[in-house]
This record gives sequence, C-alpha cells and structure tokens, in this order.
Amino acid sequence: MQLHIDIKNPKVAEWTKLNVMKYFCFGLFILLFISCDQPSAVAIEEKDPGLKDYYSEYFLVGASVTASSFSGFDSTIIVNEYNSITAENLMKMEPIHPEPDEYHWKDADAMVAFADEHGIKMRGHTLCWHNQAPAWMFEGDEGKTASKEQLLERLKEHITAVAGRYKGKIFAWDVVNEVISDSEDEYMRSSQWYNITGEEYIRTAFKTAHEIDPDAKLFYNDYNATQPAKRDKIIKMIKSLQDDGIPIHGMGLQAHWSIHHPTEDELRAALDAYSALGLDIHITELDVSVYAHEPGGTRNKRDDEADDFTPEMEQAQMDQYEMFFRVFRDYRDDIQSVTFWNISDRYSWLDFFPVRGRKNYPLLFDQEGQRKKAYDKVVNFEASAE
Ligand code: GLA
Repeated sequence: MQLHIDIKNPKVAEWTKLNVMKYFCFGLFILLFISCDQPSAVAIEEKDPGLKDYYSEYFLVGASVTASSFSGFDSTIIVNEYNSITAENLMKMEPIHPEPDEYHWKDADAMVAFADEHGIKMRGHTLCWHNQAPAWMFEGDEGKTASKEQLLERLKEHITAVAGRYKGKIFAWDVVNEVISDSEDEYMRSSQWYNITGEEYIRTAFKTAHEIDPDAKLFYNDYNATQPAKRDKIIKMIKSLQDDGIPIHGMGLQAHWSIHHPTEDELRAALDAYSALGLDIHITELDVSVYAHEPGGTRNKRDDEADDFTPEMEQAQMDQYEMFFRVFRDYRDDIQSVTFWNISDRYSWLDFFPVRGRKNYPLLFDQEGQRKKAYDKVVNFEASAE
C-alpha cells in the first residue's frame, strides 16, 4: 500500500535519484548563502545535557554534516548534542575522487580534525553508490563503457585510497548504498555498477574495505528498509553475502521517514528481521518529513501552496519521534548508533526533495537552532513509557 512506502516512491525512485544531484547543487548554493549569514566562530560552551548524554547508556547519537558545519551555531549544536558525525556529501565518490588521479581530501580532513578535537566518532558514507559517482568511473577505452575488470579495479583503488587514508578514524563505513531495487518484480537495482559487474561490485567493495581497515564495521545502507517487500530482498542479499563469507557487519536503515510512516509494527518487524541476521543496526539518516508522500516524482512548489509548520504537523511529528525513540530504546541491544540527516530545520535536503522550494521541518532543532517540542519527547523517557 502506498502509505507504507517510504518518501521515495518506488515507482519514481530511479528517476528521482538521478535528479537528486540537481537539488544538491541548489542546496549547496543555499547553504553557502546561509553560511555567510551565520554568526562566525561562536565559542562552544558546555550547557545542558545533550542527546548524546541522555542516550549514553543506549547508543551513539549523531548528525550528518557539511564543510560549513564546523563554525557558527551548527558547530555548537554538534558539540553539545552529538557524539557521532557523518559527512552528508564530502566523502562520496564524486566529491572526493572527481578525476581518476585526483582526490579532494581537504574537507574530509577538516571533518576528521574537528571530530578528533571534540572527541566525536565518525561514520563513513559512502564507498560505493550509483548516485554521485563520477562519470569517468564507468568510461572505457575509445568511448566504450568500462569493462568489468576495469570497473572493479577502479572500485578497489578508490576504496583503498579513501578507507586507507581514514583508517582508524572511521568506526563504521556505509560500504555500499542502495543496491536493491524498489520495483516489485526486480531484485537488484539496475545501476551501471550492476549492469557492468553483476553482483560482484558489492562483494569487491566489502572485501576491499575489510582488507584495508579490518577494525571498521562494514554496513549495507538503504531506504525503505522497513517496507516488507524491500526488507525481504535486502535480507536475501545480506544472507547471500554471509553464506559466502563476505565481511558484512551491519545494516543501516536510512530512516527517511515521515509523520505518516512507518508504523510501530513495521519498524519492530524490520528491527527483528535485521537483528536475526546477527548484524549490528545503525539508524543512519533519520528525518521525519511533515508532508504526506505524493506520487509523481519531483516538482516545484506551487505559488499557492502553504509550507508553514502547523500545530497539527508539530503534534504528529512529536508523536512519531516519541514512538521511534521508544522503539529504539527497546532495541538498545541491537542498535548501536542513531544519526539524524542534517542538523537543524535551518537546512534540510527535504527543502528540495521531492518538492523544490517547499520548506520542511524534519529535525529536532528549529531554524534558529533551538530545541523543538519533539526534542522533549525524545529525551523524556518516563513520559514516553506511560
Ligand atoms: C540517500 C543517501 C544520502 C543522501 C540522501 C539525500 O539517502 O544515502 O547520502 O544523499 O539520499 O540527501
């Protein structure tokens, strides 16, 4: 049923994913604009306990960051609230490895230095994905498509360079991202990786990452991971890796959720199923959209369309956040880390996806960086248990 389907409609997911780069560019432009407007280098002060303190007996709590997150109020929120960070984009294949012999380490190095300085752990995201992969990766000789051998060799080189540089700094890597298809009649996503190498790129990626950094936990990461049909395909794929002795240690549920889904039953069923595989579980990209899923791909915001954060949305979001974290606490033996995708409602990728220019309010901090009412729901365990 559509209601049970994640924000990315399976029917249009392929198309929309191909377009997601456009929103990143637009988003990055907005972000640059916003960062000029931020108070610079705010002194970071210790204040009330943060999410990381409330959850110190449960799991790590983190957020995704950009190169501009290390100053201004974003950095204050990070240091006060989180003990884990993930790069939103800057460790992905294209930004970090735009040309065959060119790596852009500067931003990733700055992130590692910030994390080191503040005693924050780092998740790595992501070593292999069909989006944000540079075109040259798939190009062969004389205008042909790369051969299987060429592509696997390039994948190994890439992982060796990136995982090697940050060895010992990254405690968990999203090794491959989103390889399972959303279509009911298809198992694997038909990406360039899959079309050229079959399933071999997945195995090569995990084996290489393990060789290079044997202490890092290696994750498969995907969206719609609570949706039963996709969940079962993910499990089939992970079991086949496990049967062949491929080093995979964890399942990352992206958790791009909304005020409408998933239900508590779906969430519990998914956590049961993944933990039954003996895997660690990370919630890797949590946000709670205040809008209903709508079919039909991406579009611009209509002029007459409201995008205020209404009291009804606020209440529905509080209820969802309360439920999600109550369930996460119940699964504390299985879940080691919960990461929000972006820091505050000041900037979210959901401002551009699936509706360009429609403000969304998916996080626990408002546009001024203040804690929202949903924050209290997440940290007030007793009220939640009643
Ligand atoms: C996927 C990716 C993330 C990010 C989001 C959209 O979930 O894993 O890196 O690109 O899409 O922001």
